[in-house]
Parts: sequence; C-alpha cells; structure tokens
Amino acid sequence: MAPKVLVSDKLSETAVQIFRDRGIDVDFMPELGKDKEKLLELIPNYDGLAIRSATKATEKLLASAANLKVIGRAGIGTDNVDKDAASKKGVIVMNTPFGNMITTAEHAIAMMFAVARQIPEASASTHAGKWEKSKFMGVELTGKTLGVIGAGNIGGIVCDRARALKMRVMAYDPFLGEEKAEKMGVQKVELDELLANADFITLHVPFTEQTKNILSKENIAKLKKGVRIVNCARGGLVDEDALAEALKSGHVAGAAFDVFAVEPATDSPLFNLPNVVVTPHLGAATTEAQENVALQVAEQMSDYLLTGA
Ligand code: MLT
Repeated sequence: MAPKVLVSDKLSETAVQIFRDRGIDVDFMPELGKDKEKLLELIPNYDGLAIRSATKATEKLLASAANLKVIGRAGIGTDNVDKDAASKKGVIVMNTPFGNMITTAEHAIAMMFAVARQIPEASASTHAGKWEKSKFMGVELTGKTLGVIGAGNIGGIVCDRARALKMRVMAYDPFLGEEKAEKMGVQKVELDELLANADFITLHVPFTEQTKNILSKENIAKLKKGVRIVNCARGGLVDEDALAEALKSGHVAGAAFDVFAVEPATDSPLFNLPNVVVTPHLGAATTEAQENVALQVAEQMSDYLLTGA
C-alpha cells in the first residue's frame, strides 16, 4: 500500500504534485494547521506530515499519531515540533535548511535599508497627503559597520550582500573559523566587540538556550549609541522591553523586526514606536523560496517513506 502523507499547512502545490508523482497518497488540507482537534482526529491515518509553521506537532498530537514515521518542515526552524516527543516515538523530523536562505537574507537587507531611511513611515506619510520632506533624514549604509550575530547559511549571505554594499562587516559566531572569516571578508569578533562597534546589528542564529535573549538588557546597554537592530531570525533573541526602552531614550536609533517573542504578534513593546519597522514573519515569504522548500520537503519525505533513506 502506498504511504499516506498529510499536508496540514499552506505549502505550494508543487509539493502535492511531487508526492503524487512519487506514488505517495497525499491529502492537502492546509486549514488543519489551525484546527487542532480535527488534526488530532485524522493524524492516525498518516505515515507522513508535511508542515510549515502553523501546525504545532505537540506531544499530544504525536501520541495519537500511531502510524507516523516522518514530519517534514518546509522551512528552517522546527520550533513548532516537539522533537523530544518525536524522537521517543521514532518519528524523524526533517527540515529544508537551504530553500529559503537567500530570501531571508534579502529580507534582512531590505529591513536594514527600511530602517536606515525610514521608508515605511515616509511612505505612510506620503500616502496620507503630507509632504514631510525634511522629517525623514536617513543614514547611508556605505562605510558603516554591520555586526552579524550568526554567520551560517543566512548570516553568510547577509555578510556577502553587505560587503557588496561597501559595509565593514564583523561577525560573532563561535562556529566561524578565522580562515573562513577571512575568505568571506569579515572580521571575526567576540560579542562584546561587536556590541560596542556596530552601527547596524543583524541576528541570524536559531533560538536555543544559548541564544535566548542574546541581546539582553545588559547587552543592549553595551551597544554603540545610535545603532540600528534588525531581527529576521527568531523572536526571543532580543529583550523587546529593554529594546523599547533603549529606543525611547535614543540610545538605539531604530529597529526592524520580522519576528517576535510571541507569534502571531498582535502586541509588542516595539509596536507603534517611531523608527521601528515591523513585518509579520515574512522572512521566507517569496514565491521562489516557497517553491524551493515545498519541492525539497516533498522529495526528502518521499525518499524516506519509499526507501527509508
Ligand atoms: C523558517 O524557519 O524557515 C522561517 O522562519 C520561515 C517560516 O517559519 O515561515
């Protein structure tokens, strides 16, 4: 009998086509990601579950997933999967670490420009019929120091793009070797050096016990005055209350956040502050990235279900 896969989030149709082409029996029910009870009822019928971020693969869901062998996350972060519970049940959890990295890096660069030139506020003001030409004085990126926290797949692309913009790039990343840093044209530094010198900071680390609140109140106090902070990685890396205070005092000149401690974020200490640009976790939201991750997750899951590889 063909393995059965449930797609419970809004994945590109490409994934469904690939599952079918590979001989997998696939059900596309993207509304289930938000319907926990229905998902709980249906999950015992499936060998594979393909998700993005709306579906929460909790311990409870895994307990009733009698036939489940694999969960495929079309994206990078697997924060929405209880990995301990999955591993106890022998359910493999796979992600697609490369499919959306360019798109996310581009979003970080876009957010850096947006906060440097106050583009969203200037756009809203112009739409409102005001012509506030002298209100929106920005800063150039050229010649500025960018501090990249986490220079892996996405952070590495951000370093490359920032170098092309003629920024001086320093990176804090315990996994980055001196030789690689040199090849990338970035200066490898300790966190305190980055905090004290960067004109812009962008975060590209996962949310773990080690990175939680990496920009804590204490570390925010160490930042260079006038710094602008971009977070397109994960909520919880920055103490939002402390950052809001630093923005109000003028110590931090601006912030651009795509991710929040609590998501969906309907409220945050950062909301409605001047020169704070916010987007609703759009880091991976391009047609290209969504095609890539859908294709990759469907191929990987099919390989595993059909051959165990
Ligand atoms: C990811 O982990 O791939 C990104 O944050 C994208 C997302 O969750 O939508």
